[in-house]
Amino acid sequence: MTYETILVENPAPGVGLIRFNRPQALNALNGQMTGEAFSAMETFDADPSIGCIVLTGSDRAFAAGADIKQMEDTDVIKMMSGSDFTDWSRMVRVRKPIIAAVSGWALGGGCELAMMCDMIVASETAKFGQPEVKIGIMPGAGGTQRLTHAVGKAIAMEVMLGDRNLTAQEALQYGLVNRVYPVENYLDETIKLAGKVAGMPQVAVRLIKETVNKAYEFGLSQALDYEKRNFYLLFGTEDKAEGMKAFIEKRAPQWKNR
Ligand code: CAA
Repeated sequence: MTYETILVENPAPGVGLIRFNRPQALNALNGQMTGEAFSAMETFDADPSIGCIVLTGSDRAFAAGADIKQMEDTDVIKMMSGSDFTDWSRMVRVRKPIIAAVSGWALGGGCELAMMCDMIVASETAKFGQPEVKIGIMPGAGGTQRLTHAVGKAIAMEVMLGDRNLTAQEALQYGLVNRVYPVENYLDETIKLAGKVAGMPQVAVRLIKETVNKAYEFGLSQALDYEKRNFYLLFGTEDKAEGMKAFIEKRAPQWKNR
């Protein structure tokens, strides 16, 4: 498939990399670019040689938000009858882990897309914010919920109402991001992390992602039931047999991903 607004690579075995490529607009998220990114994610998701996806932008901007120039002439009727934002739920259906490698601006929809990933690795220059209030709207792609879950109500309110951006170190302190690296190597470190995830048995990886995400949807007892079922399910896989045998024989496991 050919893309015009994203770049797609395989930088390491098992790793699929998607890079936003509208540098002139600080990777502002127009419908074409998000649509292409979601298609690339779905392609990697269906590719058995890929075990983990990395989503990144440029060193200056992961993404400076939804494209304001595209939204300017949009009204409530057009939004309600199906907008580019409806498409964003495609990302939630990707079963393989997605890691965001964020440098520079991650604002509005950019911050929301990063938070839709399973982990975030940041460069020291990363800035996370939800400044929609300054243009008369509010976060509309999960920011009010995912940021609040990640950093708590007090900080989330300040970010969304007071237009305070979080630095990479603050985001690390509040638990929004996993790791922070210098801008020179944040992407390489993300690819290394993705390579490690891709080297794990993929059926277990898929069920872990699915089950952790239930912490945001289910109550505790329902989520624990769900966990138990998936735990039992893994006892039916060849990788469970191999993983335990390899441990006992003190050798590296050979995963079959089934
Ligand atoms: N949409 C469209 N274009 C954007 C953009 C956006 N979100 N962000 C930046 N750009 C464009 C600028 O218009 C500019 O283009 P031109 O050269 O053609 O004028 C180019 O990118 C470079 O931007 P700046 O000159 O503004 O760069 P800067 O370094 O001075 O400032 C910035 C950087 C602080 C990120 C500033 O660009 C900015 O505030 N951008 C808007 C951030 C924002 O409000 N994001 C939220 C959008 S709404 C949303 O995301 C809704 C949702 O929840 C889904």
